[in-house]
Parts: sequence; structure tokens; C-alpha cells
Amino acid sequence: MDQAIVVEQLVKRYGDFPAVDGITFAVPHGTIFGLLGRNGAGKTTTLECCIGLGKPTSGSVRVLGLDPTRARDLARMRPRIGVQLQATSLPEKANVREVLVLYAAYYGIAPRAAEMAERVGLGDKLDRQIAQMSGGEQQRLALALALQHDPDVLFLDEPTAGMDAFGRRILWNEVERLRDAGKSIVLTTHYIEEAERLSDRICVIQRGKIVAEAPPAELVARYGGDATVSIVADGFAPGESLDGLGTWTLAGAKWTLATRGEPGLALAAIVTHANEIGATITSLDMHRPTLEDAFIAITGETIGEAE
Ligand SMILES: Nc1ncnc2c1ncn2[C@@H]1O[C@H](COP(=O)(O)OP(=O)(O)OP(=O)(O)O)[C@@H](O)[C@H]1O
Ligand SMILES: [Mg+2]
Repeated sequence: MDQAIVVEQLVKRYGDFPAVDGITFAVPHGTIFGLLGRNGAGKTTTLECCIGLGKPTSGSVRVLGLDPTRARDLARMRPRIGVQLQATSLPEKANVREVLVLYAAYYGIAPRAAEMAERVGLGDKLDRQIAQMSGGEQQRLALALALQHDPDVLFLDEPTAGMDAFGRRILWNEVERLRDAGKSIVLTTHYIEEAERLSDRICVIQRGKIVAEAPPAELVARYGGDATVSIVADGFAPGESLDGLGTWTLAGAKWTLATRGEPGLALAAIVTHANEIGATITSLDMHRPTLEDAFIAITGETIGEAE
């Protein structure tokens, strides 16, 4: 079987409300699949159906060929998946080492507390009580707990929400290392930068539906729009030597070229032309389309709190 996870026509209703409204995707082994969407898009609900925490209203989920709605399959699945939930409640009184030992016992494996703590940057905090750890530290511990039994498939729900740049980098590096070791990872996030950096494929979810799915670069190429080069220069007007680069517009004193081509080359040609006609440049600006541009074009919305 070449797919670690297969989700087909998944629907999850709460009463009449379709939190997940017919989602289909597949995650190949050894890849990172990013579910990107705003608050309430249906990311957590999708994940819950994948790990057997919620029963689909209709549609199907297979994780490593197993059906999480069947108790026997779920029991076989559990030791092979690792889950970092959006909100993990850890025993407040216990310390880091004790929690890792407890989880090892649950999975029936030898604890690797020191090694796991080290991997998530908590090597010096083994004796720290949970109650005395920051939110970001607790999340990194939650990742260690999801990893200790060496699962083949990982589900990470907003793993870096609220983390500082340091914690985020530790987690990103660890997730990439896991993928390179052949693990399959589903990651939900509303951080565009995180989705772009980590995902082999991104699936954009909006109101319970998939509105686009592709590798990040492809989403940008398909939906991100034109690159632009803007110039403000006394005495400037686009001339014949710039024909064919794209479409020019003038707003106030600023000329803007929208181009499908390489904006760096366009910029160089524009500077050469400005010099040839003796125009004095006061400002020059280049913008390549980003995943954020693509996201806005796809959903008609900005991502909200990630801004
Ligand atoms: N148990 C529930 N009962 C009723 N509605 C629910 C329940 N759980 C989730 N919902 C609704 O389903 C929708 C999707 O929720 P979900 O938690 O999957 O979103 P999400 O994409 O994970 O959002 P976030 O980024 O805020 O975590 C939301 O509108 C939410 O209010
Ligand atoms: Mg969520």
C-alpha cells in the first residue's frame, strides 16, 4: 500500500452543522501533509476522525490500511500512530521524566525519557513539574510523548501555536527529521509560513471543504498571481525595450509592471531603461507572489490571527 492515510468523502456533522463537509485526500508514506485553514475550518475535526476520537457521519478513513471506527483496527493502529493534540492535559504534579515514563508504560515500551526530552529541547528540564512549565514547553513535551513509541504516522494539531521562534525551530527541525526517517505526518496549522516550510503537499480547508490541494510552490504558481515590479522615477515611462515583459499600470507617480516572468530580470531591464532615458529613480520595489497571496486568492480571506 503506497498511502499511509486515505480519507474519502469524509463528513462530520454536529447536529445540522457540517464541520467537515466531504473531504477527500491521501497522504503518501514518508511525506508531510499540511492542513491549512482558519479557525473553525474543520482541521481538528478531520484529525479526530483519523485517530478514532470522533466517528464520521459518513465517508471513510484508513490509516495504515486500518479503519479507526472499528475497535479491533483501532487497537492495532494505536501503537503505530503518534498524536499531539491542540490542547493536551498533562498531570500537573508530575515532572517531565515521570510523564515520559508513564506514557512508555502505556505503550508497553522501555522509557527513553532523557533522549526524548533532549530531542525537543527539554534536556535540562527532566525534573521540572508540568505545572511550572510554560505553554510552549508543554507543547514540546507533548511532541516527545507522541514520538517516544516510534510511531509510523504522526498527527500534529497546531503543534507550534503560541510557541516562540526558538521552540518553533526545534519543532520544525524535528518534524523534518521524522519525515526524512520515513514517517508520514499530518499537520494542521493556520501559520502560512509553517505550512510552506514543512508541507510536501498543502490542503487548504475552508468551512469544512477542501478548496485547493497541491505542493506549496504549485499553489503559489497557480493562485498567487503575477509578480510585480514598481518604480517611481522622475522622467520615467516604460519604453519599447520593456515591451513584452507584462502589463504596466500607473498610479500617481508609481509605475507598476505585472509579470508572469522572472521579476528579477524584469527589474534589471527596467533599471537599464531608466538609466538610458536619464530618469532618476527614487524607489524601486519587487514582489514575488507568496503562499499568502495564493491563500487569499483561494479563500477570499486573510488567515486572521497569523497576521
Ligand atoms: N463538539 C462540537 N459540537 C458542535 N460544533 C463543533 C464541535 N466541535 C467543533 N465544532 C464546530 O465545528 C467547526 C470546526 O471545528 P474544528 O475544531 O474542526 O476547527 P479547526 O479548523 O480545528 O479550528 P481551529 O483553528 O480554531 O483549531 C467549528 O465551527 C466548531 O465550532
Ligand atoms: Mg483545531
